[in-house]
Amino acid sequence: MEYLDGIVLGIETSCDETSCALVRGREVLSNVVSSQAALHMKWGGVVPEVAARKHTEALLPALERAFEEAHVSFDEIRGIGVTNRPGLVGALAVGVAGAKALSLAWKVPMLGVHHLEAHILSPLMAEDVPFPHVCLLVSGGHTELILVRGAGMYEKLGGTIDDAAGEAFDKCARAMGLGFPGGPAIQKIAEKGDPHRYKLPRGLSDPNMNFSFAGLKTAVLKLIEKEKDSLDVPSLAASFEEVVTSVLAERTFYACKETNAKAVTLVGGVAANRRLRSKMDELSKRYDIGFFAAPLSLCTDNAAMIAHVAAWRLSFGERDDLDMETLSSAPLPGLQATGIVSE
Ligand code: KG4
Ligand code: ZN
Repeated sequence: MEYLDGIVLGIETSCDETSCALVRGREVLSNVVSSQAALHMKWGGVVPEVAARKHTEALLPALERAFEEAHVSFDEIRGIGVTNRPGLVGALAVGVAGAKALSLAWKVPMLGVHHLEAHILSPLMAEDVPFPHVCLLVSGGHTELILVRGAGMYEKLGGTIDDAAGEAFDKCARAMGLGFPGGPAIQKIAEKGDPHRYKLPRGLSDPNMNFSFAGLKTAVLKLIEKEKDSLDVPSLAASFEEVVTSVLAERTFYACKETNAKAVTLVGGVAANRRLRSKMDELSKRYDIGFFAAPLSLCTDNAAMIAHVAAWRLSFGERDDLDMETLSSAPLPGLQATGIVSE
């Protein structure tokens, strides 16, 4: 990938992480992430209005820290990338307003970045991943299998037909009384449980490139109700984690074989899950297919991955004006129709 010559500032405020980062091409100079998770914990999920207000408080301190940590001054910035889609519009608007003001003041180009494209390209910041590869994108709002033919050339192979994987983690963790965000909470308590104690549904029959987690969630809720005090929570968390991660890993490698892709990547918040990473590692060895997981610091939402996409897209002249929009949903740029039929 070609990159803009010089340092690019990235800003991310699409959900509950306020983040500012500085990159030079794919090199991360600083990546400051200020999480609001503790604030949203008492509600069991992200409250959009609260998130937006918190971003206004946290954005400029995060910006200052990103410059301090990188030992960079404002006049060294050659471009700005900001998440402008998809996400919570009120939250996005804070980052976008900040980026517009800085672009005007510093007289540097600015680009709105698609949050999911930033996740998809994040493994390329650490390694030379061959194309085409199959990307498993698993976050709080998305679970998708994407064939990445090159940067900016994507085909959707499949995805969830109901809940996203992260959403399933969050909802089941809440039902088990484990708090928010659910992924890390389930991972922690699952270490003490037996992953084969409870039999849970995999959703949709194999082989498949699509996922369904709604039935699994219902099964977990029913078990909690039925077992009451005799419920073995660590084993339920482990059994849940086992079924979700097996389904995700197996279907991703199936998609890779079906499309003759050269490698598999794993990105998004759920990609931080240890059991998922080790299952994918195991399948990569079994099938002799390269596997590249995004580095942990780039899995959950962060501005370095946003700046990385901007550094690349700005290099061939893409720009946005000061009237740039913020959008709650938007197609991936460069998404092409796929020749592959999946059900
Ligand atoms: O990508 P992300 O930070 O935000 C979105 O764009 O959605 O993903 C957040 C999701 C949450 O659902 C959270 O529970 C999940 O990622 N997550 C995990 C882990 N860490 C975060 N899920 C499973 N295991 C983890 N270790
Ligand atoms: Zn994300």
